[in-house]
Amino acid sequence: MSTIERAGERLSATRQALSPDPRLSNARNASPGEAVDTELESPSASVKVHLPPSTVVNPDISLTSLEQGFLLSPEGGRSRTAEEFRIIKRPLLVNAFEKAPDGVKYPNLIMVTSSVQGEGKTFTSLNLAISITMEMDSTVLLIDADVARPGLSRRLNVRERQGLIDRLVDETIDLSQVLLKTDIPKLTVLPAGTAHKRSTELLASGSMRRLLSEVASRYPDRIVLFDSPPVLETTEASVLASLMGQVVIVVEHDSTAQGIVKEALAHFETTDNVVFVLNKCKVSLFSGQYGYGYGYGYGYGYGYGAYGDADAAQK
Ligand SMILES: Nc1ncnc2c1ncn2[C@@H]1O[C@H](COP(=O)(O)OP(=O)(O)OP(=O)(O)O)[C@@H](O)[C@H]1O
Ligand SMILES: [Mg+2]
Repeated sequence: MSTIERAGERLSATRQALSPDPRLSNARNASPGEAVDTELESPSASVKVHLPPSTVVNPDISLTSLEQGFLLSPEGGRSRTAEEFRIIKRPLLVNAFEKAPDGVKYPNLIMVTSSVQGEGKTFTSLNLAISITMEMDSTVLLIDADVARPGLSRRLNVRERQGLIDRLVDETIDLSQVLLKTDIPKLTVLPAGTAHKRSTELLASGSMRRLLSEVASRYPDRIVLFDSPPVLETTEASVLASLMGQVVIVVEHDSTAQGIVKEALAHFETTDNVVFVLNKCKVSLFSGQYGYGYGYGYGYGYGYGAYGDADAAQK
């Protein structure tokens, strides 16, 4: 049975309706531990968000100073975005640690990709990483593998730092030399690194395979998330997917055509664990209600070997 057929079979039962919460407007100016009154884009509502006191000395990256609206509160709370990501991460964690299926080499390696650019890969991988670190005892390594367009490294203001590309070019560099600490104790980042004319090709190199194997064996108790290139724009993304234990495909609601999603799915025939995150829904898929502000949200199909609803992207 093809991936697309399996996708069709799995759908509806587990789909969740989720809604938005791109808030945290005032969070960037707050000190760790301080309660900030965040503003929604619209309508005129607000929510208290508590940034946790950080115990990390001299972090390389301050997540609490990220730009407005991009970041889930590291403390979690009961915000709607936090709830959305709780639903999204649950089966990923189960697959990663509790029931690694036969034949899945590194179930704790999770690739976040999409069909085309701009569907929300960076937003999803960063917020997923934060959400997972809220889980007790879960540590995350977040890797900017979108080396041609390193949006994550730019967002985190570490574009100039050494990182993945440097390590792929020079395997004598120890990983610990290029990992960056954040002010969330359990979240470490590997930035994209120094621009290289063959950077995308390096993702499909033997050097990348060795890196994945090292990361998986050195940090078996860690979730390793890869903010990756879109699958229809580089052949290397498919190669990368074949090495991952799990793949999350972000689909932009009302934007990505059905044919494009199906074409992307065809690249994951060899990957057992593929899930969809339906991003930027203006209306809740489940209740039909509008959410806060401009109403981003997630629709999601999940479970072991689960596939989200490709067709939902068209509704
Ligand atoms: N659920 C969401 N809520 C609020 N804003 C979002 C959401 N998803 C994406 N965005 C916004 O949409 C824009 C594109 O998102 P993002 O950068 O994550 O996409 P991408 O797939 O990583 O793009 P690229 O292919 O260029 O790397 C960003 O400005 C981001 O802040
Ligand atoms: Mg990106």
